[in-house]
Amino acid sequence: MTSTPNLPLRDTDRVYGKVTRLLHWSIAALLAWQFVGMGLKLALGRHPVAAVFVGSHQKVGTVLFPLIALRLAWAFANRGHRPDHGAGALGLAARFGHLLLYAVMVIVPVAALLRAYGSERGFAPFGFQVFAPQLPEIGWMVRAGDALHGEMGWLLLALIAGHIVMVGLHEGMWRDGTLARMAGRRRAGL
Ligand code: HEM
Repeated sequence: MTSTPNLPLRDTDRVYGKVTRLLHWSIAALLAWQFVGMGLKLALGRHPVAAVFVGSHQKVGTVLFPLIALRLAWAFANRGHRPDHGAGALGLAARFGHLLLYAVMVIVPVAALLRAYGSERGFAPFGFQVFAPQLPEIGWMVRAGDALHGEMGWLLLALIAGHIVMVGLHEGMWRDGTLARMAGRRRAGL
């Protein structure tokens, strides 16, 4: 029986390592919680099921922000030895798509935090105060944060949907082991 080498901590040119995978899947799960909640709120209004998600939205978003920052920092620290996006127009589109995903993933919580900072309500997501109330509120921060958080939030969902469709194409049509770089070992060559 041949032994399979352990998954590395850092990324390599064949696979994403343990740290990237942990960050990728925990961020994915928390983002799914955010979108399911906001979707339920749109569909059901003030329904108790929607309230479970909406009631934790600020807390989950506050946890997501440092995780996303860590994800970016880790990607930067691993630059030069991560799986390649491939050659040609498709590779370029994948690189651009990932950059856009990262950018919007940062903008969405930052916009919410900007709005919270400028607000006259203050911000205490876990019961301790992160931002004191602004009296009077800082209008431009609240307006900009409000507009950006809503629009960019749904744009993020569209980008994630595109990301999932592309992984589906890689798996179903091209069968090139793309998913295994983030979720498996064998087909990624480990
Ligand atoms: C990456 C993390 C986050 C995602 C993906 C996200 C996503 C969303 C989405 C899609 C909406 C609905 C927008 C609309 O229809 O106008 C929303 C609303 C909202 N978000 Fe976030 N959000 C995140 C983080 C945060 C954070 C950190 C806070 C607090 C500082 C926050 C506070 C709010 C509030 C107060 C609303 C309005 C909720 C309501 O209408 O009841 N969000 N968010």
